[in-house]
Amino acid sequence: MRKKPANLQELFRRALSSQIDLGMGEVVLGGRPALGPRLPEALATAKKKVIPAGEAIEEFSRNRIGDGDDQQMMISLSQEASYGSLEEHCQAICECQRCALGRTRTKFVYGVGNPHADLMFIGEAPGAEEDRLGEPFVGRAGKLLDRILEAIQMSRDQVYIGNILKCRPPGNRDPQPDEMALCLPYLQEQIRLIEPKLLCLLGRVAAQVLLKTTTPLGKLRGRWFDFQGVPAMVTYHPAALLRFQAYKKDCWADMQMLKARHDELT
Ligand code: URA
Repeated sequence: MRKKPANLQELFRRALSSQIDLGMGEVVLGGRPALGPRLPEALATAKKKVIPAGEAIEEFSRNRIGDGDDQQMMISLSQEASYGSLEEHCQAICECQRCALGRTRTKFVYGVGNPHADLMFIGEAPGAEEDRLGEPFVGRAGKLLDRILEAIQMSRDQVYIGNILKCRPPGNRDPQPDEMALCLPYLQEQIRLIEPKLLCLLGRVAAQVLLKTTTPLGKLRGRWFDFQGVPAMVTYHPAALLRFQAYKKDCWADMQMLKARHDELT
């Protein structure tokens, strides 16, 4: 028998509650969520049904998750609300309690920069300084990102900078798959609102989760992919550059490629 993941039920109960708070009327039960963690095949073939969101919480309270393959139900949070602006979106989600990080964060770190940026950088998750100040990339790695931007004649105000997670994982541990699955719709909405022409994915976590791959970063960097119809370049995370100076050369080459494509498009 499949082992029931700890707290999954509670996690979805909370996610649903905040969705209802944000105005979601219905949810789809069954099927594979677009950006969720890898799920058993049975979930993909489970029958879909659309039911009022309030009822979904009751379904979960009746403990239908993890009961056995046929009965397993998964909630696809496909009914995310959409917003008119980044401010409106941020206002609506900044009290988020979808996952446990909502209880441990100091500040919700939404994102920063030009709301109409052509180029958007996506990192992993806030660290200690970001958590304290509520802004992404303001610690040591952030200072290096500023220097990288300068080197390609760009500035923080010109681009947009966001993260996969909006809240700091305690002790800067890696983001967990459930945290990323619950938080990703926020990033997707940011991308929809900003409409960047190019994305730059900083580091393994951002690259692997957005491109749905386990390929090592060394094989992804310096290449173009597609995310939500937007060309996405992968490079090293600035924190990795601080630890391993030898990566700087490759990162510089990636930045040249990024800048060349940016200048072509703008
Ligand atoms: N590292 C990240 O990935 N994001 C930040 O905001 C800060 C450090």
